[in-house]
Amino acid sequence: MTAIKPLVAGNWKMNGLDSSLAELGALRERLAEAPVPETDVMVCPPATLLTRAAEILAGSDIELGAQDCHPLASGPHTGDISAEMLADAGATAVIVGHSERRIDHGETDTLVNAKALAAYRAGLTAIICIGETEAEHRDGATLDVLRRQLQGSVPEEARAANTVVAYEPVWAIGSGLTPTPVDVAEVHGFIRGVLGQLLGDAQSGAMRILYGGSVKPANAAELLFVPDVNGALVGGASLKASDFYAIIEVYRAGTGA
Ligand code: PGA
Repeated sequence: MTAIKPLVAGNWKMNGLDSSLAELGALRERLAEAPVPETDVMVCPPATLLTRAAEILAGSDIELGAQDCHPLASGPHTGDISAEMLADAGATAVIVGHSERRIDHGETDTLVNAKALAAYRAGLTAIICIGETEAEHRDGATLDVLRRQLQGSVPEEARAANTVVAYEPVWAIGSGLTPTPVDVAEVHGFIRGVLGQLLGDAQSGAMRILYGGSVKPANAAELLFVPDVNGALVGGASLKASDFYAIIEVYRAGTGA
């Protein structure tokens, strides 16, 4: 099996004003000065900043992603944004099924699946998020929950080329808590196995499975070199270029495990 190139993606969530774009410029400069070709890098700012972010990132290797999309291409859906609109604004990927969407907006696996299909229709990579809640974790239900989410949220059309899966334990998001590397290895191996059952071993073996939830410069090396972890989805620590770069940098050859 050929090695999977990792991806470090920053999820700005509902953060970022025009003034925040300076961080994007700083990240671009830092990566130009001291590139880390061992990993791909993506930033997912709010939709309001996509066009300006695309201008700042033009000509760089930093990819531009978006956060969430409507399943349909256009129509009477006030306040919603379609995958086609995100592509038009310069995005090449979109996060779907984030636990904050599942919890705040009651999104189901069926809806997440439709959103991933919308991403493919618009030519975007779907970053499909899954993860158990604290109560599910406590009850020992993690693997059952993840299997159900994968079966429901990952379309049959998912391929390694158009899909990234992000495992984000809900209890680890924004909490400073993380699973142990041993637990992350077990869960990521399990996810790859289920993806193999759903999509076949060739796609599963080439698909990126990111870890997300309180990834920081201080714990990145410990989490990112775990078997079956192919990068990170980073929330809070992606807002400052220096912190985000410090996470990216763990992939520089020779730095990691
Ligand atoms: P966090 O968020 O890094 O702030 O924990 C991760 C995410 O929700 O994608």
